[in-house]
Amino acid sequence: MEKHLIQYLRDRIQQQGAITFAEFMETVLYHESGYYNQQAKRMGQRGDFFTSVHLGEAFGAMLAVQFVELWQRLGSPSAFDLVEMGAGQGWLARDILIHLRDYYESCFICVSYTIVEKSADLIDRQQNTLQSLLDSGVAIQWRTWSEIDSQSIVGCVFSNELIDAFAVHQVQKRGDRLMEVYVAWEGDRPVETLQPLSTSGIADYFQAANIDLLSPVYPEGYRTEVNLQALDWLKTVADRLRQGYLITIDYGYSNKRYYNPGRCSGTLQCYYQHQVHGDPYINLGEQDITAHVDFTALQTQGARLGLVTLGLTQQAAFLMYLGLGDRIAGLSQGEGRSGAEMLEQLKMRDALHRLIDPTGLGGFGVLVQGKGDDGTKPPIRGLTTAFWSN
Ligand SMILES: C[S@@+](CC[C@H](N)C(=O)[O-])C[C@H]1O[C@@H](n2cnc3c(N)ncnc32)[C@H](O)[C@@H]1O
Repeated sequence: MEKHLIQYLRDRIQQQGAITFAEFMETVLYHESGYYNQQAKRMGQRGDFFTSVHLGEAFGAMLAVQFVELWQRLGSPSAFDLVEMGAGQGWLARDILIHLRDYYESCFICVSYTIVEKSADLIDRQQNTLQSLLDSGVAIQWRTWSEIDSQSIVGCVFSNELIDAFAVHQVQKRGDRLMEVYVAWEGDRPVETLQPLSTSGIADYFQAANIDLLSPVYPEGYRTEVNLQALDWLKTVADRLRQGYLITIDYGYSNKRYYNPGRCSGTLQCYYQHQVHGDPYINLGEQDITAHVDFTALQTQGARLGLVTLGLTQQAAFLMYLGLGDRIAGLSQGEGRSGAEMLEQLKMRDALHRLIDPTGLGGFGVLVQGKGDDGTKPPIRGLTTAFWSN
């Protein structure tokens, strides 16, 4: 039986003297009694945070439309894998599968749906959400990456707001050295300390991006994050994917904007009871901690591994090309509706607008990478005019 989070964390830190911020973040989010193992009740419109998935079935329906096109691009194989990583409460899986079942049966019968999820608590929630689909014989399974064979996936691996939930390393410029943020324990709480970099992977990351945080344009004390887990995750996906696509939807920037000298305290954010703040050392295990995604790093690492960038666009454009505009137009006709129906319709329309709000979810990045599709075919539907202003 694992120890309670705070006791576990304190013991672990005291054994080591100090742990990297990345290990601290990993522990408070994913320990057995960490945030993601007791937080399904906190996700959603009334929770600490909500995602596109919580705004109704339209997001999943639009993704389903995209998957049908990708299935066709692969030659409509009789076995088409959809692999969702980090599936939250399972709502996106449900919305995608129901849309495929109801509108695209020829694709639906070829789909094998796999969820790769780290939180035991969320796996339970996902199984509950998907129970009626499972009961009706739909092929849905839960796997770890080690249970999925190398070069076995033909289809699409995808995620929504997964990479921002990976534990990140934090670095800080001190004099002529780049130091790493470590976490020690003092009295009854964690405290920060700066130490030399824990891994050469951090220096390699900046070298690959041609970014020198020690140059004079970066001020003393400049602090930022490095998501090494995202690079490892790409290695795993590239290994398991034989032919098909990787779709990553998340908030983030190109590396030029991410590591802009003006962004001197990084992108780390904590979410607790509707509030966003910057202190990861309070509400341990009770608050979400996230960092923005460096999309350029995903593209560069993907290219090294044979994953060709087919496009990077904004969520708003992606969803509009997949037909969200028609849905919004459909909800704009009030003729013959009662007052209550009109009110419901307005609420639904408002939710769809939030999915494409350029200052919110609509400004998220959608990165599509491919293997065995060199991009010489006509553009993928959601990427029709791919643009990225971040
Ligand atoms: C911010 S939530 C997003 C949930 C859902 N995709 C949505 O959009 O509502 C992040 C999800 O990723 C999962 N996760 C984080 N790291 C993971 C990993 N290494 N492997 C599998 N799942 C992971 C979390 O447990 C959680 O389900």
